[in-house]
Amino acid sequence: MTTTSEITIERCAPVDEPDAIAAEVRDGLTRALKELPPKYFYDERGSQLFDAITALPEYYPTRCEREILNRRAPEIVAATGARELVELGSGTASKTRALLYAMAGAGTLHRYVPFDVDPSVVEACAEELTELYPGLAVHGVVGDFGRDLDRIPTGERRLFAFLGGTIGNLYPAERAAFLARVARLMGPGDRLLIGTDLVKDRALLEAAYNDSAGVTAEFNRNVLRVLNANLEADFDPAAFEHVAFFDEANSWIEMRLRAKGAQTVRIAGAALEVTFEDGEELRTEISSKFTRDAVARELDGAGLRLDAFHTDGGGLFGLAVASLVS
Ligand code: AVJ
Repeated sequence: MTTTSEITIERCAPVDEPDAIAAEVRDGLTRALKELPPKYFYDERGSQLFDAITALPEYYPTRCEREILNRRAPEIVAATGARELVELGSGTASKTRALLYAMAGAGTLHRYVPFDVDPSVVEACAEELTELYPGLAVHGVVGDFGRDLDRIPTGERRLFAFLGGTIGNLYPAERAAFLARVARLMGPGDRLLIGTDLVKDRALLEAAYNDSAGVTAEFNRNVLRVLNANLEADFDPAAFEHVAFFDEANSWIEMRLRAKGAQTVRIAGAALEVTFEDGEELRTEISSKFTRDAVARELDGAGLRLDAFHTDGGGLFGLAVASLVS
């Protein structure tokens, strides 16, 4: 028997064009509470630091989500007869393996559509997975899920997956817009899987973002290095202190960088000079924490129905399965 693999990779406009970054950074750093978008954490060093975070004893989400996927992938796949996996923010696709394995086992696996901002991970996982599953079609999309979702190829019985709790990095209005956009792409036979970190004891939540090895602090400061490299900025990362706390009213963890001493930063590539007062904070990320009811409500707002909500044994993390309201 001969089988052929087919790889297609589509590249949308780069997200890290200096002009686009400059506009976004200028907007964020001229607000009353200065702010930077979390997507700029993830250059090569940032991705490595994030990988290190997922292995920290305090950072439970990755382990919990993997536990859920390992346990539930077969039933999720069986319930949907999934032929395609469309993974939004696929990264190295390490947790997705359970879903692909279950689809292959059920004999329904036809295509994998990894969607990520980083071309190197899309290419690497395309190669690796076609080797693992000869005959598998891979249609990779290199793009920004805030902008390029319409580049996802049409199909039937697709499983859209947005894992890791990344949806929590979006503000509520952005989340609503994102879910509505995904819902518009979906047909009646498609399903959406969303990984959501759950509300829990404050100490446990805050420890996950204040690890004792200081990896999250380095990850947080990495955004300054990224701006130094991409916008000819002169941030001194050592002059900023890592801050992370649970904001209960908004139900999110907030990460900030606090200026140690008053300072002025020049960002040549954005034609911007920014001053920080001693102790002034810069918001770098929100990471929203959900309840099952909150997830159901948000899905409902986008015309989606919560079909199932799986949690790990400790009830720390949730995996929502949703479909279009018919
Ligand atoms: C991958 C975006 C879900 O919000 O928990 C980890 C990123 N930030 N530690 C999260 C992150 C600080 C992570 N997400």
